[in-house]
Amino acid sequence: MTGAIAKGIDGLEDVVAAETVLSEVDGAAGVLVIRGHLLSELAGRWTYEETARLLWDGFFDDLPADLAPALGAARAQVFDHTQALTGDLLALTPVEAMRALTARLADGDDLATALRLVAAPAVFMAAAIRAQNGEAPVAPDPRRGHAEDILRMTRGTDPSPAEAAALNAYLVTVIDHGLNASTFAARVTASTRAGLTSAILSGISALKGPLHGGAPGPVIDMLDGVGDPANARAWLEGALDRGDRLMGFGHRVYRVRDPRADALKSAVKVLGAASNRLPGRLALAEAVETAALEVLSARKPGRSLQTNVELYTALLLEALAFPPAAFTGVFAMGRVVGWIAHAREQVAGGRLVRPQSRYVGPRPRAAA
Ligand code: ACO
Repeated sequence: MTGAIAKGIDGLEDVVAAETVLSEVDGAAGVLVIRGHLLSELAGRWTYEETARLLWDGFFDDLPADLAPALGAARAQVFDHTQALTGDLLALTPVEAMRALTARLADGDDLATALRLVAAPAVFMAAAIRAQNGEAPVAPDPRRGHAEDILRMTRGTDPSPAEAAALNAYLVTVIDHGLNASTFAARVTASTRAGLTSAILSGISALKGPLHGGAPGPVIDMLDGVGDPANARAWLEGALDRGDRLMGFGHRVYRVRDPRADALKSAVKVLGAASNRLPGRLALAEAVETAALEVLSARKPGRSLQTNVELYTALLLEALAFPPAAFTGVFAMGRVVGWIAHAREQVAGGRLVRPQSRYVGPRPRAAA
């Protein structure tokens, strides 16, 4: 039967496809190390720019001691591209519009290209979110920190220091995470020597799927669907009965709680204490988390399905007033630094990535 399709292999589970100095995900212990530092040492303490410098050290010859001014200047450089956000681009989701604008940037391998690629998701997402509300883009302020300026460009008003700190903590928390799907995609593209812009476009494209960085938007649908903590268990059982996956739970590598979930829950609590806004939503998320872990353990006893990064990502980004449709693009704003570091590492030390497939289709008649 020529129409039969292959079932597919196992998603490369446990296959080691790169050596890296950038980050280590210990799925059994629930520990994330970013270039020699525990996540808990960085999140809520380091700025995004400082953490970017940590990851990029050794991958660019001309790296300045302080990346903040150069990144601010790069935001200003890419801003002109927001003028192209018209016509068909306005019908796209924010992350698709951001990807389309990023594709306008020239390929290259130097620090200037890298900085423009970090600036691009920030500036283009802010503009795309505003465009969906019929609002004109707000120009970057190069003197501000990256997180603060993202909120300012998105809203058109200054965020509070607590809000800027919360977004900064999020960007640091998601900055790099081993050989996840989008990072692998970026490394494969980089291995062809296509250039950093091409590698980052591969990363954005892989990230947007609901099994990867597209999960936090549907987490909000889940929280809204549950509505009241007392409904959590019944709602989640119903979702699993329909064959749905519970967004924000399960991970390819972690068999215990994702350490990023704790980092983000702390950030959510700090923000809630400063703004007095979150207690009800946080209580709902905690009730959903407790019920989901019970239900998943009963339904999938052989597989330890735990909370991943996306549950508290959704809560934090919602508290910062990002629309759920934009959550994946905000994830890209953070992860882009890791993609660039991995792309540089792949080019510096790696050969072209070119695995084999096993042919299981029909044989030509002549060979049968
Ligand atoms: N809800 C319900 N069942 C689940 C879930 C979930 N969230 N996660 C896994 N399972 C089940 C699967 O249905 C499967 O059951 P089966 O063996 O009876 O078929 C079993 O657990 C194993 O699942 P796999 O698909 O093999 O796990 P995999 O490692 O491929 O998937 C993934 C990991 C994609 C994250 C998965 O857990 C999932 O879909 N989670 C929900 C989406 C999500 O939260 N994604 C964000 C991940 S974090 C990130 O990428 C930034």
